Parts: sequence; structure tokens; C-alpha cells
Amino acid sequence: MSSSMNKQQPQSVHGTEKHRKYGAFQNEIYREGMFMQRLPLVTTDPNKLEDHAKSILKPTAFNYVAGGAGERATMDANRLAFRQWKMVPRMLRPTTHRDLTVTLFGEKYDSPVLMAPVGVQSIFHEDKETGLSEVCSEIGVPYILSTASSSSIEEVAKSSNKGPRWFQLYWPQDDDITISLLKRAKDNGYKVLVVTLDTWALAWRPADLDGGYVPFMKGVGNKTGFTDSVFREKFQKKFNATPEEKLLDASIEWVGDVFSGAAHTWDQIALLKKHWDGPIVLKGIQHPEDAKLAVEAGVDGIICSNHGGRQLDGAVGSLEMLPEIVEAVGDKLTVLFDSGIRTGVDIIKALSLGAKAVLIGRPAIYGLAVGGKQGAKQVLQGILADLDQSMGLAGISNIAGCNRSMIRRVQYGGDVKSSS
Ligand code: FNR
Repeated sequence: MSSSMNKQQPQSVHGTEKHRKYGAFQNEIYREGMFMQRLPLVTTDPNKLEDHAKSILKPTAFNYVAGGAGERATMDANRLAFRQWKMVPRMLRPTTHRDLTVTLFGEKYDSPVLMAPVGVQSIFHEDKETGLSEVCSEIGVPYILSTASSSSIEEVAKSSNKGPRWFQLYWPQDDDITISLLKRAKDNGYKVLVVTLDTWALAWRPADLDGGYVPFMKGVGNKTGFTDSVFREKFQKKFNATPEEKLLDASIEWVGDVFSGAAHTWDQIALLKKHWDGPIVLKGIQHPEDAKLAVEAGVDGIICSNHGGRQLDGAVGSLEMLPEIVEAVGDKLTVLFDSGIRTGVDIIKALSLGAKAVLIGRPAIYGLAVGGKQGAKQVLQGILADLDQSMGLAGISNIAGCNRSMIRRVQYGGDVKSSS
């Protein structure tokens, strides 16, 4: 064992000093293996996670999470973009005590890692959103609840307890419903509104199409709508029934409103600003000109994201666009990042290119599929431990230390193991 491992306190990462203890999770795994013959619930190998989940999930659920748009060229590009950047480590620096905290929109968070909004979590495990949000709160990872969830806004507010939570909006066409969702999110302690711009219609997703499967059609993942009083009232008027009584009609109504096939426009951001008292973050920005429009629209942040290659196939890898976006608007609003993060070093690279925090998507969901909420927790703790240890090994003691001096763009490519 390395001396740094010996010096780590043998404590779990939970507890008052959790943000300084992420790396200790590595010791916990070794200790449990060596003394209790207990192995990790979920593989710690980012390249084996997908297969591990595949061995457990129904094919339709597996395809829903692992699949992408078209020929998955953008999913591949997301990983390739990471391989174009390499760390250049520094030595003999005081990095024993590392500080992973970040401040986003005036609030301090334990680390730069957030749980990405991922819909329909009940198809992956019965622990679903309530379970995942509960474990996220235990390890200080902000939970971003999707509009397309299988647990309600109120249920997740309860399960995430005092943990930080944000709300992701799939923006309905019906303004009354939009306003009602914003009010519910606000009343239930969701701090930041994340508005996803890239999914006003679902992309051509062959893995789901071949299996003839999309959960929303049969009411799964529609909980946000079906528990909304405004949606229910309008439905009752039109169908003289509750959503539960006419599930298929209710699903068509809801899906037709949130994945309407009609994009909103920049001027409509004003409605969100009017009805949301707090930070607004636009998710799905890839073009620097759109980043500038976001500044003009007066929002607080953007997420440089291509939805994990699930929407426009053939689009550029998300990390490829991050430096230009940061250069265009990085001093005017907060730039966050997702799409392709699999390891601690991936996070360091994104931060070094100017992101203030990152969102973890598929890896946590694979963990959820394999081991329920404990599996997801283990994956997130693993990524945090890897981030913490890798920062130390690179000679970085805090998030500000993740900057351009630590990385270099290289000319050789590589494989895309983590997403294939
Ligand atoms: C998503 N994502 C997503 N995004 C969003 O804004 N609302 C949503 O409901 C969903 N749902 C969803 C379901 C599944 C199964 C996946 C895999 C992803 C996109 C998500 O927030 C994030 O942008 C991607 O997961 C990032 O890509 P990687 O790193 O997971 O490949």
C-alpha cells in the first residue's frame, strides 16, 4: 500500500468531514475484501459497468440506458473527445489535504459532482428516484430530478431529505402546466431549475425502436404529470376521467405536451424567469453562439451537454466544444458539463477546460441497475474517490488547481471502451 493510503483515516466517506474523505472509500473496499471477504457490489471498472448492468437488466431497459441516437457516433465522439486530452502531473506538492468543494450559484457543495437528470428510473430498479436521491443526499451529491421521472416531485423531496436537489424541466407546451411544475419544485426545496433544450422530441434511437419500446407510452415515467393538479384538472375536463382511469390517453396527453415536437424559442425564457425565483440553467448547449444567447437571455448557467449522444447523432463530442463555450461566456455565467464522464480524471479534464462542475449519468444508473440504491451509491463514491486520488496524484489540492496547466491536447486517438 502507498503511504498516502496508510495515512488515510479508516472512516467511511459519510459524516461531517465527508468532502475530505472521498479517497478513503478505496481503503474501505480493500479492507472489506481482505478482512471480510466482501467484494464491491458493482464492478469498479468503468469499462465493465455497462456489461455488468446488461447481465441483470431486461433487454428493453438496458437498451434504453445504453442506447443512443442513430449509430451512436456522438456517444463514441464523447469518449474520443476525452482521449484527446491527457493529464500532465506535478510532483512534490502538498496535496495530502484536498478540498473538493465548489460554490455554484452562491451555494457551497461538497464536490463538483452532480447526479444528472435521468428519467424513468423504475425500469432499472424498484429503488428508482426515491432511492437514488436518498443515497445522493448521504454522500452530498446534488440530485437533479427529471421531469420524466417515475417518482413525484414531492416524493423525491422527502427521500432526498436535507440533500441538495435541483429540478430538470422538460418544458411543456402548456404554460399553465409549466407554471404549476415550477411552483411545485420551488415549494419542495429544489434550488436550481435545469431546462433541457435538446429533447423537445425524441431522437431516432434504433435500440429502442428495434425493441418497440418507449416507457412513456404506457404511463411509466409520467409521474410528474400524473401528480400535477393542473394537468389532472385539464385531463378530467377533456376526458371526463382521471389519468389512472385512462392511462393510455393520459400518457398521450402528457407526452404530447412535454415531447411535443415543437421547440420553444429564446424569447420564451422570459416566462421561466417570471415564474422561477432562483437560478436557471440551460442544458444541452453545444454552440458558442447559443451560449452567448443564453447570456443575453439572462440565465445563470448552461450545461455543455449533448444528452449523452441520445439526441442528435453525428453531433460533435461534448468536451470538444467546452473550451470554446467557456471562452465565449465563462466569465458571464456558470458553465457545467456532461456527456461521457466515466472516471475521476475525466472530471479533472472537464474542470481544467473550464467547467465548474459535472453531471454523472449512465455510470450511476448502471450501478442502480446492478445493486439498487446501494449500487448507485457505490458507483458515485467510486468516481469521487477516483477524482480525489487522481487530483492528489496529479499534484492538485483543490478545484481551482484543475486548470489548463494540468492538461495537454494530444494528437493520438484511442478506443472508446467505456461506452461500447
Ligand atoms: C438521460 N438524460 C436525461 N436528461 C434530461 O435532461 N432529462 C432526462 O429525463 C434524461 N433522461 C435520461 C435517461 C437516460 C437513461 C440517460 C442515459 C440519460 C441525459 C443525462 O442527463 C445526461 O445528459 C447524459 O446521461 C450524459 O451522458 P453520459 O455521461 O451518461 O453518457
